[in-house]
Amino acid sequence: MRVLIAGSSGLIGSALVAHLRAAGHDVLRLVRREPAGPDERSWDPPAARIDEGTFDGVDAVVNLCGVGIADRPWSGARRQQLRDSRTVPTEVLAAAVADHGVAAFLSGSAVGIYGDAGPQEVDERAPSGGGFLAELCRDWEGSARKAQEAGARVVLLRSGLVLSRRGGLLGRLRPLFKGFLGARLGRGTQYMPWISLDDHIGAIRFLLEHPEVSGPVNLTGPLPVTNTEFTAALAAAVKRPAGLAVPAFVLKATMGVMGEEMLLYSQRAVPAALQDAGFPFRHVTVGEALSAVVDR
Ligand SMILES: NC(=O)c1ccc[n+]([C@@H]2O[C@H](COP(=O)([O-])OP(=O)(O)OC[C@H]3O[C@@H](n4cnc5c(N)ncnc54)[C@H](OP(=O)(O)O)[C@@H]3O)[C@@H](O)[C@H]2O)c1
Repeated sequence: MRVLIAGSSGLIGSALVAHLRAAGHDVLRLVRREPAGPDERSWDPPAARIDEGTFDGVDAVVNLCGVGIADRPWSGARRQQLRDSRTVPTEVLAAAVADHGVAAFLSGSAVGIYGDAGPQEVDERAPSGGGFLAELCRDWEGSARKAQEAGARVVLLRSGLVLSRRGGLLGRLRPLFKGFLGARLGRGTQYMPWISLDDHIGAIRFLLEHPEVSGPVNLTGPLPVTNTEFTAALAAAVKRPAGLAVPAFVLKATMGVMGEEMLLYSQRAVPAALQDAGFPFRHVTVGEALSAVVDR
């Protein structure tokens, strides 16, 4: 299968490129600079420009674009950037998928769409919730509409917290936990919808290879855990105690709405669509996922 990937230099994208190539797929990277080799094509999302011929023979497009959600405080300008860096590339790609009759469009989203869902399990049929991230995800998913209207198979990748040694949430937490600063956040009852990077990229490949699946798909491990459980599992994986607790008001005072939505909102998201389709998870428990990615 010939797969075109946008956002391929990131945590998920770079691992996905290697994984798909190892599985025998023909991968093209869509880059926001001059192409550096025969496997790259150039584009400029704000100008809606994509190199001529980019979609020749392409069976599927995977869209992983967006500036980092937790990299900077959510000022008004940053919120606009978080939104534009997702909705604009998605609209441009969806229109191109429609124009060129590409069969499948797998486009990014996140479990943040469920807002603060408390202790209830949320599968793909759950309604979206409140807050900045939920609204962002609704707009982001809506930007794929043109591809859907043109009859492409559109899969909305509602990613959970991707666990990898190389970055993301664990890239920030691991040094703290190793330095004896591991702590429960707030009351610790909020659910954290984790997934290992291996399973995340394995799931994207599975979705590429299973044309019967479309629509929203939760990319989360089968057994989401509370923050208290996650804290204990990470402490065990790095062999350190984690007896501290950071009160919710401290997180809100120091990190504002970003801290509240990213660290205190609860999403007990379950991967119903992946499990119904028979995706074989490698890491079923958070302990398995953490011991696979945390070097001791
Ligand atoms: N990692 C997680 O835990 C997680 C959880 C939920 C959702 N997600 C979503 O999944 C996607 C990929 O995540 P990731 O962790 O791999 O992110 P990442 O490491 O930050 O990579 C994101 C990629 O987006 C592209 N990008 C950055 N700014 C852009 C802009 N202004 N316009 C267009 N493209 C831009 C870049 O690719 P190029 O430089 O190659 O263009 C970059 O490599 C993101 O949309 C993210 O929000 C990730």
